[in-house]
Amino acid sequence: MFSVKDLESFISKASTSLEIKFVRSEADIFDDSLAFAPVFTHQVFGENEAIFGYKDLKVKLYHTPDTLSTYIGLKYTSQSDSPKPDNVVKILSEYIPEGFCTNLDEYIRRITVPSSFKPFGELLHVYNQNDATYEVYKTNIECPGFREYHERLQTFLLWFVDASSFIDVDDEKWNFYLIFEKHTQCGSTCYSIVGYTTVYDFYAYPDKVRPRISQMLVLPPFQRKGHGAKLLQTVYDNLTPDPRVLDVTVEDPSDEFTALRDVVDIRNGLGLEALRPPLVHQEFSKDTERVCRERLKLNRKQARRVYEILRLKATDRSNAEEYKAYRLSVKNRMNGPYQREQKDMKRVQDFVDPTELALTHPQVSHEDHMTQLHQDYKALEGEYLNVIEKLASHTR
Ligand SMILES: CC(C)(COP(=O)(O)OP(=O)(O)OC[C@H]1O[C@@H](n2cnc3c(N)ncnc32)[C@H](O)[C@@H]1OP(=O)(O)O)[C@@H](O)C(=O)NCCC(=O)NCCS
Repeated sequence: MFSVKDLESFISKASTSLEIKFVRSEADIFDDSLAFAPVFTHQVFGENEAIFGYKDLKVKLYHTPDTLSTYIGLKYTSQSDSPKPDNVVKILSEYIPEGFCTNLDEYIRRITVPSSFKPFGELLHVYNQNDATYEVYKTNIECPGFREYHERLQTFLLWFVDASSFIDVDDEKWNFYLIFEKHTQCGSTCYSIVGYTTVYDFYAYPDKVRPRISQMLVLPPFQRKGHGAKLLQTVYDNLTPDPRVLDVTVEDPSDEFTALRDVVDIRNGLGLEALRPPLVHQEFSKDTERVCRERLKLNRKQARRVYEILRLKATDRSNAEEYKAYRLSVKNRMNGPYQREQKDMKRVQDFVDPTELALTHPQVSHEDHMTQLHQDYKALEGEYLNVIEKLASHTR
């Protein structure tokens, strides 16, 4: 019989056991500094995010940065006989497509063969950063070899995007934008994946499309180096000239993506007269909304957000009157849903039982509501000021 303590010693935290790495050469396999950890493991290893059956477990998940050829290897000091240890390779194989390697010698043989890999689709944009060259491509699932490549690529979402799901690539409305680093290795040109995004062309009545960014991932070794901003800007630059595109929306954006989108949208917004002084000091109008949609492809909500950030940027907060006008404008917008609810309540209160109404729609006092509104405003203003501060350090 095992004691609970004995059994517990065979439990490993999936997030610290997994070592993800891109390997360009045999030497990279033995370079621990290249490894990075997953952020999320619950989708693969369950809510407890644990792996049972091993002591000092390391699960090595290596990828070649061009074709994404994968190696899965386990290292541990001992394993439990009974209960049986988790079959980690089998668990991973439910997500990682066939063709991965579990034999390190064979994997080394694979990666040392010169690669003829070329990115898929159409080259949209080239940029240089810190002495390296990056290329952004747009492709679809019909591009030869991309379907299989995408099956390997999307597995990264499991580790870095919370509640991610794999998309139905057979739906022809998906487009894929990918960034590759272009470099020279042993005299030949090589490409390494940096990040990608998927965009779905939704139909918009009567003859428009409303592309929606569904997933975006910049791989950890490349994060916070400006690649996400370049990728989003390339998507905008690609879609904006298309007269069929009504606006570009985002599916369920994470906080990180919202921060990225704000920086890019604000930078673009600065190019619009309607969002610069003196016009930006006027109230948000249908006209401003239209210009933001036509020129920046922003929907109403994001256009209003961009306007509020740029109006704050233009506001002299030491000028009491100007600052008050700004706060009132934002608070009025924030208060809209509450005011509509109050109006509806007034309309129904003569017709329903007041006790039932109080239970289903509990009312807060006017003072409490105003205090809450002010707190919400201050939090939002703080968010906006952060974006404004960032803007100074960002150039296209
Ligand atoms: C979110 C993500 C796409 C951003 O890409 P990135 O290449 O790291 O972003 P950039 O370097 O271009 O960031 C540009 C600016 O956006 C803002 N920003 C980007 N990521 C941010 C984060 N995690 N937190 C706060 N601000 C962020 C910052 O203002 C940043 O400028 P700074 O680095 O000078 O502060 C990337 O971090 C990622 O893939 N994260 C994991 C997956 C994810 O959350 N995807 C989005 C939802 S599907």
